Amino acid sequence: IFAAVEMAPRDPILGLNEAFNADARETKVNLGVGVYYDDNGKIPLLNAVKAAEKARLESMPPRGYQPIEGPSAYAQAVQALLFGKDSALLANGQVITAEALGGTGALKIGADFLKRLNPDATVYISDPSWENHRALFEFAGFKVENYPYYDAATRGVDFAAMKACLGGLPAGSIVVLHACCHNPTGADLTDAQWQEVVGLCRDGGLVPFLDMAYQGFADGIEPDAVAVRHFAASGLQFFVSSSFSKSFSLYGERIGALSIVTAAREESARVLSQLKRVIRTNYSNPPIHGAAVVAAVLSSPELRQMWEDELAGMRDRIRAMRTGLVEALKAEGVSQDFSFVIKQRGMFSYTGLTAEQVERLRTEFGIYAVSTGRICLAALNSRNLAYVARAIAKVVA
Ligand code: LMR
Repeated sequence: IFAAVEMAPRDPILGLNEAFNADARETKVNLGVGVYYDDNGKIPLLNAVKAAEKARLESMPPRGYQPIEGPSAYAQAVQALLFGKDSALLANGQVITAEALGGTGALKIGADFLKRLNPDATVYISDPSWENHRALFEFAGFKVENYPYYDAATRGVDFAAMKACLGGLPAGSIVVLHACCHNPTGADLTDAQWQEVVGLCRDGGLVPFLDMAYQGFADGIEPDAVAVRHFAASGLQFFVSSSFSKSFSLYGERIGALSIVTAAREESARVLSQLKRVIRTNYSNPPIHGAAVVAAVLSSPELRQMWEDELAGMRDRIRAMRTGLVEALKAEGVSQDFSFVIKQRGMFSYTGLTAEQVERLRTEFGIYAVSTGRICLAALNSRNLAYVARAIAKVVA
């Protein structure tokens, strides 16, 4: 059966973890995957999560099957974060939300559902985009193309080119948009640019699919929801995949959500019924724990505040690492201007390091980064910062 099966390449992001784990060097640093580590180099277990888990453990709940779309308390918590608790869409029953296996799982059930709705549509992703977007939509059976996004010369968004492309797409095209903290570039659209994108989607009859894996990592929960809020106000139908992997530090619990905005309550019921079929035929119904913890934290004013404070702490530490890296590179005598690192948003910096330089970082220094030059700032800390800066200085010299 398997004689003709070829060896697949390592995953460009998670494959780095495998190589990193096999590296025996004590000084090794993993700047590959988008994971937040604290200043001690540990993945934190947030106090808000600990409190919710403790209460849950004490109550010893049974482990029956969940509803196919996950619990309603979780859906409501997700919707309030994305759309704002007073959103008219929510009051009108125009949003359905299904628990999903992380942001990736949300994209996948959204992709499978879209494939049944509009099998011939092309999916457009930003150039560049998260390494898994193309593969995920291609595996769901779609043709995937790029729209222009990043401008290496300005280290910002080439908005004119992006607009020109989106404005020329055939109706029904699916456009994947990073709602905040663009992965991998850290270059986001402005408020005014989002409004223009909404207009282009409306005029062109496009299907917007917002991917929001980093809400809270740019400016905070509310400001980071600006793209979703503009789409929500537009009257358009759209998709949002969201994730608590990063914001709750619950990576391995695989806890995310797919939300779909419909035209009316009655339409929501039909859409949810079809989405449930997609879920049922994939994995039947989602796991319990992550959703229970997130719902418990977000529905308790005290735990919610604790969580927002902890999230702000993560955001601030990443910012400090951005400044720290720029200063350390200067101190190493690097003449190239790296100040753009401070302006990029979210966990990543798109450093401009070449694949060869990234390769040298790994072989000579045990520092792992994505071959595109993306590094995760959230893996820097007060002990490895100088080492990383010195290594970068060597490879760019
Ligand atoms: C990343 O981009 O590193 C994260 O979103 C983790 C992943 O699943 O790739």
